[in-house]
Amino acid sequence: MFRFGVLGVSRFALRKMIPAMRAARGVELVAIASRDGAKAAAAARELGLPKSYGSYEALLADPEIDGVYNPLPNHLHVPWSERAAEAGKHVLCEKPIALGAAEARRLLAVRDRTGVVVCEAAMVRVHPRWLAARELIRGGRIGALRSFVGTFGYSIARDNIRFDAEMGGGVLLDTGFYPVTMSRFCFEAEPTGVLGRSEVDAATGVDLLTSAVLQFPSGQATFSCGMDLGPMQRALLLGTKGHLELPIAWNPPGDRPSELIIETSASLEEPTPERMAFDAVDQYTLLVELFAQAASSGGPAPIALEDSVMNMAVLDALARSAKSGRWESPAR
Ligand SMILES: NC(=O)c1ccc[n+]([C@@H]2O[C@H](COP(=O)([O-])OP(=O)(O)OC[C@H]3O[C@@H](n4cnc5c(N)ncnc54)[C@H](OP(=O)(O)O)[C@@H]3O)[C@@H](O)[C@H]2O)c1
Repeated sequence: MFRFGVLGVSRFALRKMIPAMRAARGVELVAIASRDGAKAAAAARELGLPKSYGSYEALLADPEIDGVYNPLPNHLHVPWSERAAEAGKHVLCEKPIALGAAEARRLLAVRDRTGVVVCEAAMVRVHPRWLAARELIRGGRIGALRSFVGTFGYSIARDNIRFDAEMGGGVLLDTGFYPVTMSRFCFEAEPTGVLGRSEVDAATGVDLLTSAVLQFPSGQATFSCGMDLGPMQRALLLGTKGHLELPIAWNPPGDRPSELIIETSASLEEPTPERMAFDAVDQYTLLVELFAQAASSGGPAPIALEDSVMNMAVLDALARSAKSGRWESPAR
């Protein structure tokens, strides 16, 4: 059994990741830590966990924990993942892996020095539907992929870490992350230049709405993400001979089948959608299982940290472009 500890009583961890971990095969959730000992103890009681800790340090010092899940605010992803790695723990860290590529490279160096497995929880990358979409592209089912179109809209109250610029808030890092990582996944290449445009909230300094163009060697990706929008998440993959559509693109519910629509009609007026169904699967559980297997067998991580570093370089370039108003190139 791979023994997990969780750093912080995060809302997302409580709602999604902890239930997903408990459903994962070969994994045991043994402890939760909070800056507040009473909060950790209450969470452990509620979850039926044997241990709770009143500090993250104390959890990292527990020799009966093999790996940690880090769902802290974005500005604490690298600092606490580094400390966990230094303590000999494997690390599954929430997305985005860092505030920027430079910080992510620091984590890469710590991973290499300590030899633990460090993986960003970019769960979409292990979902069978996205893997199938990439296989369909590779097989030429929609001709050559030319354009990736992504949307992610939601709305949240302002008392949230996403409205705190110092903590790495804003919609680009929060959900712009998804079309960036998955367009790179589908094109199997890095963008040569990116153009971003953001509307920034005057009160907090975080971007509320960000749209972008990513120029890849063989096509383009565009996306629009906002945290003052009605709920919306979709991806369209446009090829020279047809297109793929992924409804509920990033968070398909784990308890019901998901769908991939393949459209290869030669007529604009007469579509012939073919619906490919995927069995219900919890992508978080799947990622936890793959991560634990990798950590137990000496790696590699199910999602390469090197890829997460490049993803940060693209997000950095988008943020630079949103400020400069010009095309920017991701740093290699
Ligand atoms: N992969 C996905 O689908 C997905 C979905 C949602 C969120 N996420 C990621 O998960 C992370 C957490 O998101 P969330 O919505 O769960 O956030 P949240 O509810 O605010 O949880 C963050 C936790 O971090 C701890 N923390 C430590 N220092 C803090 C500080 N200075 N201010 C606030 N909290 C601090 C707190 O735990 P204690 O007080 O107990 O120490 C808090 O509960 C983010 O990185 C986000 O991107 C991923």
